[in-house]
Amino acid sequence: MRVLMFGRTGQVATEVRGLAERQGLPLLALGREEADLADPSACAAAIAARAGATDVVINAAAYTAVDRAESEPDLAHLVNAAAPAAMARACAAAGLPFLHISTDYVFDGSGATPWTPDAPTGPLGVYGHSKRAGEEAIRGAGGAHVILRTSWVFSAHGSNFVRSMLRLGATRDSIDIVADQTGGPTPAAAIAAALLQIGRAHVAGTGRSGTCHFAGAPDVTWAGFARAIFAQAGLPVAVRDIATADYPTPARRPANSRLDCASLAADYGIARPDWREGLADVIAALRAPVPPDSTQA
Ligand SMILES: NC(=O)c1ccc[n+]([C@@H]2O[C@H](COP(=O)([O-])OP(=O)(O)OC[C@H]3O[C@@H](n4cnc5c(N)ncnc54)[C@H](OP(=O)(O)O)[C@@H]3O)[C@@H](O)[C@H]2O)c1
Repeated sequence: MRVLMFGRTGQVATEVRGLAERQGLPLLALGREEADLADPSACAAAIAARAGATDVVINAAAYTAVDRAESEPDLAHLVNAAAPAAMARACAAAGLPFLHISTDYVFDGSGATPWTPDAPTGPLGVYGHSKRAGEEAIRGAGGAHVILRTSWVFSAHGSNFVRSMLRLGATRDSIDIVADQTGGPTPAAAIAAALLQIGRAHVAGTGRSGTCHFAGAPDVTWAGFARAIFAQAGLPVAVRDIATADYPTPARRPANSRLDCASLAADYGIARPDWREGLADVIAALRAPVPPDSTQA
Protein backbone atom coordinates (compact mmCIF):
# COMPACT_ATOMS: atom_id res chain seq x y z
CA MET A 1 0.00 0.00 0.00
CA ARG A 2 1.55 3.28 -1.15
CA VAL A 3 0.40 6.20 1.00
CA LEU A 4 0.29 9.89 0.13
CA MET A 5 -0.24 11.97 3.27
CA PHE A 6 -0.91 15.65 3.81
CA GLY A 7 0.81 16.70 7.04
CA ARG A 8 4.28 15.81 8.26
CA THR A 9 4.89 17.45 11.62
CA GLY A 10 1.55 17.13 13.44
CA GLN A 11 0.78 14.61 16.17
CA VAL A 12 -1.05 12.13 13.94
CA ALA A 13 1.17 12.72 10.91
CA THR A 14 4.30 12.03 12.95
CA GLU A 15 2.85 8.76 14.24
CA VAL A 16 1.72 7.67 10.76
CA ARG A 17 5.22 8.32 9.42
CA GLY A 18 6.82 6.29 12.20
CA LEU A 19 4.39 3.39 11.89
CA ALA A 20 4.61 3.25 8.09
CA GLU A 21 8.38 3.10 8.39
CA ARG A 22 8.21 0.26 10.92
CA GLN A 23 5.72 -1.59 8.69
CA GLY A 24 7.84 -1.01 5.57
CA LEU A 25 5.06 0.92 3.81
CA PRO A 26 6.07 3.45 1.15
CA LEU A 27 4.75 6.81 2.34
CA LEU A 28 5.17 10.30 1.00
CA ALA A 29 4.32 12.97 3.59
CA LEU A 30 3.74 16.47 2.24
CA GLY A 31 4.51 19.23 4.71
CA ARG A 32 3.34 22.81 4.51
CA GLU A 33 6.23 23.65 2.16
CA GLU A 34 5.16 21.00 -0.38
CA ALA A 35 1.39 21.47 -0.04
CA ASP A 36 -0.13 24.44 1.79
CA LEU A 37 -3.73 23.70 2.71
CA ALA A 38 -4.45 27.39 2.38
CA ASP A 39 -4.08 26.71 -1.36
CA PRO A 40 -6.68 23.98 -2.05
CA SER A 41 -5.99 23.73 -5.78
CA ALA A 42 -2.30 23.04 -5.03
CA CYS A 43 -3.42 20.14 -2.80
CA ALA A 44 -5.60 18.74 -5.58
CA ALA A 45 -2.71 19.09 -8.04
CA ALA A 46 -0.39 17.26 -5.63
CA ILE A 47 -2.76 14.28 -5.66
CA ALA A 48 -3.25 14.32 -9.43
CA ALA A 49 0.51 14.46 -10.00
CA ARG A 50 1.13 11.37 -7.81
CA ALA A 51 -2.04 9.39 -8.47
CA GLY A 52 -0.26 6.69 -10.45
CA ALA A 53 2.12 5.99 -7.57
CA THR A 54 -0.48 6.12 -4.78
CA ASP A 55 -2.99 3.63 -3.37
CA VAL A 56 -4.50 5.72 -0.57
CA VAL A 57 -4.50 9.40 0.43
CA ILE A 58 -4.56 10.47 4.10
CA ASN A 59 -5.21 14.03 5.25
CA ALA A 60 -3.54 14.43 8.66
CA ALA A 61 -3.13 18.21 8.35
CA ALA A 62 -5.63 20.69 9.71
CA TYR A 63 -6.07 24.09 11.30
CA THR A 64 -6.27 22.88 14.92
CA ALA A 65 -5.92 26.12 16.92
CA VAL A 66 -9.45 26.00 18.34
CA ASP A 67 -9.37 29.37 20.11
CA ARG A 68 -7.43 31.24 17.41
CA ALA A 69 -9.96 30.01 14.83
CA GLU A 70 -12.54 32.33 16.39
CA SER A 71 -10.56 35.29 15.02
CA GLU A 72 -9.34 33.56 11.82
CA PRO A 73 -12.53 32.01 10.42
CA ASP A 74 -11.56 32.42 6.77
CA LEU A 75 -8.24 30.61 7.18
CA ALA A 76 -9.84 27.88 9.31
CA HIS A 77 -12.45 27.26 6.59
CA LEU A 78 -9.87 27.29 3.83
CA VAL A 79 -7.66 24.72 5.57
CA ASN A 80 -10.36 22.56 7.19
CA ALA A 81 -13.06 22.68 4.52
CA ALA A 82 -11.92 23.98 1.13
CA ALA A 83 -8.65 22.01 1.10
CA PRO A 84 -10.19 18.65 2.11
CA ALA A 85 -12.95 19.30 -0.43
CA ALA A 86 -10.37 19.75 -3.18
CA MET A 87 -8.45 16.68 -2.00
CA ALA A 88 -11.61 14.56 -1.97
CA ARG A 89 -12.56 15.65 -5.50
CA ALA A 90 -9.04 14.89 -6.75
CA CYS A 91 -9.15 11.46 -5.08
CA ALA A 92 -12.58 10.73 -6.58
CA ALA A 93 -11.30 11.68 -10.03
CA ALA A 94 -8.26 9.42 -9.61
CA GLY A 95 -10.21 6.54 -8.03
CA LEU A 96 -8.22 6.76 -4.79
CA PRO A 97 -9.70 6.24 -1.30
CA PHE A 98 -9.46 9.38 0.83
CA LEU A 99 -9.02 9.10 4.61
CA HIS A 100 -9.71 12.24 6.62
CA ILE A 101 -9.72 13.02 10.35
CA SER A 102 -12.48 15.01 11.99
CA THR A 103 -13.49 15.87 15.51
CA ASP A 104 -15.93 15.64 18.41
CA TYR A 105 -16.21 19.44 18.05
CA VAL A 106 -18.76 18.95 15.27
CA PHE A 107 -21.23 18.14 18.08
CA ASP A 108 -22.87 20.59 20.48
CA GLY A 109 -21.93 18.56 23.54
CA SER A 110 -25.46 18.22 24.91
CA GLY A 111 -26.65 15.17 26.83
CA ALA A 112 -24.55 12.44 28.38
CA THR A 113 -24.79 9.59 25.93
CA PRO A 114 -22.13 8.84 23.32
CA TRP A 115 -22.59 10.47 19.90
CA THR A 116 -23.17 8.03 17.07
CA PRO A 117 -21.69 8.86 13.65
CA ASP A 118 -25.14 9.75 12.27
CA ALA A 119 -26.20 11.90 15.23
CA PRO A 120 -27.11 15.51 14.36
CA THR A 121 -24.16 17.86 14.42
CA GLY A 122 -24.18 21.34 15.93
CA PRO A 123 -20.74 22.89 16.24
CA LEU A 124 -20.25 25.49 18.96
CA GLY A 125 -17.41 27.44 17.32
CA VAL A 126 -15.52 28.30 14.16
CA TYR A 127 -13.20 25.26 14.34
CA GLY A 128 -16.13 22.84 14.63
CA HIS A 129 -18.01 24.61 11.85
CA SER A 130 -14.97 24.44 9.58
CA LYS A 131 -14.44 20.73 10.29
CA ARG A 132 -18.13 19.98 9.67
CA ALA A 133 -17.99 21.85 6.36
CA GLY A 134 -14.98 19.72 5.41
CA GLU A 135 -16.90 16.54 6.23
CA GLU A 136 -19.89 17.61 4.14
CA ALA A 137 -17.71 18.47 1.15
CA ILE A 138 -15.89 15.13 1.32
CA ARG A 139 -19.20 13.24 1.36
CA GLY A 140 -20.35 15.34 -1.58
CA ALA A 141 -17.25 14.62 -3.67
CA GLY A 142 -18.61 11.19 -4.54
CA GLY A 143 -15.43 9.13 -4.07
CA ALA A 144 -14.45 6.36 -1.66
CA HIS A 145 -13.73 8.01 1.69
CA VAL A 146 -13.57 7.53 5.44
CA ILE A 147 -14.06 10.41 7.85
CA LEU A 148 -12.60 9.34 11.19
CA ARG A 149 -13.85 11.54 14.02
CA THR A 150 -11.62 11.45 17.07
CA SER A 151 -11.14 13.42 20.28
CA TRP A 152 -8.60 14.69 22.82
CA VAL A 153 -5.52 13.61 20.85
CA PHE A 154 -2.23 13.22 22.70
CA SER A 155 1.28 12.07 21.90
CA ALA A 156 4.89 12.62 22.91
CA HIS A 157 5.23 15.52 20.48
CA GLY A 158 3.38 18.64 19.45
CA SER A 159 0.94 20.55 21.55
CA ASN A 160 -1.46 18.52 23.69
CA PHE A 161 -2.97 18.22 27.18
CA VAL A 162 -0.55 15.55 28.41
CA ARG A 163 2.52 17.62 27.59
CA SER A 164 0.89 20.74 29.07
CA MET A 165 0.11 18.90 32.33
CA LEU A 166 3.64 17.48 32.59
CA ARG A 167 5.10 20.94 32.00
CA LEU A 168 2.84 22.62 34.57
CA GLY A 169 3.12 19.72 37.02
CA ALA A 170 6.88 20.09 37.15
CA THR A 171 6.56 23.44 38.93
CA ARG A 172 3.20 23.37 40.74
CA ASP A 173 1.75 21.42 43.61
CA SER A 174 -1.87 22.04 42.66
CA ILE A 175 -3.78 22.87 39.52
CA ASP A 176 -7.39 23.71 38.61
CA ILE A 177 -8.83 21.59 35.80
CA VAL A 178 -12.25 21.52 34.17
CA ALA A 179 -14.34 18.64 35.50
CA ASP A 180 -17.58 19.09 33.54
CA GLN A 181 -16.35 18.10 30.07
CA THR A 182 -16.18 14.38 29.33
CA GLY A 183 -14.58 12.56 26.43
CA GLY A 184 -12.15 9.92 25.29
CA PRO A 185 -8.44 10.82 25.26
CA THR A 186 -6.97 9.26 22.13
CA PRO A 187 -3.30 8.36 21.54
CA ALA A 188 -2.15 9.69 18.16
CA ALA A 189 -0.30 6.38 17.74
CA ALA A 190 -3.61 4.51 17.87
CA ILE A 191 -5.13 6.86 15.29
CA ALA A 192 -2.17 6.19 13.01
CA ALA A 193 -2.64 2.43 13.36
CA ALA A 194 -6.37 2.74 12.69
CA LEU A 195 -5.78 4.87 9.57
CA LEU A 196 -3.34 2.39 8.07
CA GLN A 197 -5.66 -0.52 8.86
CA ILE A 198 -8.59 1.31 7.24
CA GLY A 199 -6.41 2.15 4.26
CA ARG A 200 -5.45 -1.50 3.80
CA ALA A 201 -9.10 -2.54 3.87
CA HIS A 202 -9.92 -0.04 1.11
CA VAL A 203 -6.98 -1.13 -1.01
CA ALA A 204 -8.15 -4.74 -0.55
CA GLY A 205 -11.67 -3.76 -1.59
CA THR A 206 -13.22 -4.53 1.80
CA GLY A 207 -13.43 -0.95 3.07
CA ARG A 208 -16.69 0.91 3.51
CA SER A 209 -17.12 4.61 2.80
CA GLY A 210 -18.61 6.72 5.55
CA THR A 211 -18.08 8.41 8.88
CA CYS A 212 -16.71 6.50 11.90
CA HIS A 213 -15.77 7.38 15.44
CA PHE A 214 -12.52 6.43 17.15
CA ALA A 215 -11.71 7.53 20.68
CA GLY A 216 -9.77 6.13 23.60
CA ALA A 217 -11.55 4.40 26.49
CA PRO A 218 -12.72 4.81 29.19
CA ASP A 219 -14.44 8.18 28.93
CA VAL A 220 -13.13 10.63 31.51
CA THR A 221 -13.24 14.30 32.45
CA TRP A 222 -10.26 16.57 31.84
CA ALA A 223 -9.72 16.64 35.61
CA GLY A 224 -9.77 12.84 35.75
CA PHE A 225 -7.36 12.68 32.84
CA ALA A 226 -5.03 15.14 34.59
CA ARG A 227 -5.06 13.01 37.76
CA ALA A 228 -4.12 9.94 35.71
CA ILE A 229 -1.28 11.85 34.03
CA PHE A 230 0.18 13.02 37.35
CA ALA A 231 -0.25 9.55 38.93
CA GLN A 232 1.47 7.78 36.03
CA ALA A 233 4.24 10.38 35.90
CA GLY A 234 4.78 10.20 39.68
CA LEU A 235 4.17 13.92 40.14
CA PRO A 236 2.61 14.94 43.49
CA VAL A 237 0.16 17.48 42.04
CA ALA A 238 -3.33 17.99 43.52
CA VAL A 239 -6.04 18.47 40.89
CA ARG A 240 -8.94 20.72 41.90
CA ASP A 241 -12.16 20.32 39.94
CA ILE A 242 -13.49 23.49 38.36
CA ALA A 243 -16.40 24.26 36.02
CA THR A 244 -16.01 25.27 32.40
CA ALA A 245 -17.55 28.61 33.38
CA ASP A 246 -14.54 29.22 35.65
CA TYR A 247 -12.08 28.79 32.78
CA PRO A 248 -13.31 31.06 29.97
CA THR A 249 -11.82 30.52 26.51
CA PRO A 250 -12.52 32.29 23.19
CA ALA A 251 -14.12 29.13 21.76
CA ARG A 252 -16.86 27.14 23.50
CA ARG A 253 -16.12 23.44 23.98
CA PRO A 254 -18.61 20.54 24.01
CA ALA A 255 -19.42 19.26 27.52
CA ASN A 256 -20.23 15.81 26.19
CA SER A 257 -17.56 14.60 23.76
CA ARG A 258 -18.28 10.88 24.24
CA LEU A 259 -18.04 9.12 20.86
CA ASP A 260 -19.84 5.86 20.09
CA CYS A 261 -17.16 3.84 18.29
CA ALA A 262 -19.22 0.71 17.56
CA SER A 263 -19.32 1.11 13.78
CA LEU A 264 -15.53 1.13 13.49
CA ALA A 265 -15.41 -2.14 15.43
CA ALA A 266 -18.15 -3.63 13.25
CA ASP A 267 -16.78 -2.46 9.88
CA TYR A 268 -13.04 -2.77 10.48
CA GLY A 269 -12.56 -4.78 13.69
CA ILE A 270 -10.88 -1.77 15.33
CA ALA A 271 -11.59 -1.47 19.06
CA ARG A 272 -11.26 1.61 21.24
CA PRO A 273 -7.71 1.85 22.59
CA ASP A 274 -7.20 2.08 26.36
CA TRP A 275 -5.78 5.59 26.78
CA ARG A 276 -4.13 4.60 30.06
CA GLU A 277 -1.81 2.30 28.12
CA GLY A 278 -1.20 4.97 25.48
CA LEU A 279 -0.44 7.44 28.27
CA ALA A 280 2.15 5.09 29.76
CA ASP A 281 3.80 4.80 26.32
CA VAL A 282 3.87 8.59 25.89
CA ILE A 283 5.34 9.19 29.36
CA ALA A 284 7.99 6.53 28.70
CA ALA A 285 8.80 8.09 25.31
CA LEU A 286 9.17 11.52 26.89
CA ARG A 287 11.59 10.09 29.44
CA ALA A 288 13.66 8.23 26.86
CA PRO A 289 16.74 9.94 25.45
CA VAL A 290 16.02 11.32 21.95
CA PRO A 291 18.04 9.42 19.33
CA PRO A 292 20.02 11.59 16.90
CA ASP A 293 17.99 10.37 13.90
CA SER A 294 14.63 10.91 15.64
CA THR A 295 11.72 11.68 13.32
CA GLN A 296 9.85 13.46 16.11
CA ALA A 297 9.02 17.09 15.44
N1 LIG B 1 -5.56 17.60 18.58
C1 LIG B 1 -6.75 17.15 18.99
O1 LIG B 1 -7.04 17.07 20.19
C2 LIG B 1 -7.77 16.69 17.98
C3 LIG B 1 -9.04 16.27 18.44
C4 LIG B 1 -9.98 15.83 17.50
C5 LIG B 1 -9.65 15.79 16.16
N2 LIG B 1 -8.43 16.23 15.75
C6 LIG B 1 -8.13 16.20 14.32
O2 LIG B 1 -7.06 15.28 14.12
C7 LIG B 1 -6.29 15.68 13.00
C8 LIG B 1 -4.81 15.69 13.37
O3 LIG B 1 -4.64 16.57 14.48
P1 LIG B 1 -3.23 16.72 15.20
O4 LIG B 1 -3.49 16.81 16.66
O5 LIG B 1 -2.27 15.72 14.67
O6 LIG B 1 -2.85 18.18 14.67
P2 LIG B 1 -1.57 19.06 14.99
O7 LIG B 1 -0.60 18.31 15.82
O8 LIG B 1 -2.06 20.39 15.43
O9 LIG B 1 -0.93 19.20 13.54
C9 LIG B 1 -1.57 19.88 12.53
C10 LIG B 1 -0.80 19.64 11.26
O10 LIG B 1 -1.44 20.36 10.21
C11 LIG B 1 -0.47 21.10 9.54
N3 LIG B 1 -1.03 22.31 8.96
C12 LIG B 1 -1.73 23.28 9.57
N4 LIG B 1 -2.04 24.25 8.68
C13 LIG B 1 -1.51 23.85 7.51
C14 LIG B 1 -1.47 24.42 6.21
N5 LIG B 1 -2.05 25.60 5.94
N6 LIG B 1 -0.84 23.74 5.23
C15 LIG B 1 -0.23 22.57 5.47
N7 LIG B 1 -0.22 21.99 6.68
C16 LIG B 1 -0.85 22.63 7.67
C17 LIG B 1 0.57 21.44 10.60
O11 LIG B 1 1.75 21.80 9.96
P3 LIG B 1 2.80 22.82 10.64
O12 LIG B 1 3.59 22.02 11.61
O13 LIG B 1 3.59 23.33 9.47
O14 LIG B 1 1.97 23.90 11.30
C18 LIG B 1 0.64 20.13 11.33
O15 LIG B 1 1.47 19.21 10.65
C19 LIG B 1 -6.85 17.04 12.56
O16 LIG B 1 -7.73 16.83 11.48
C20 LIG B 1 -7.65 17.51 13.75
O17 LIG B 1 -8.70 18.36 13.37
C21 LIG B 1 -7.48 16.67 16.63
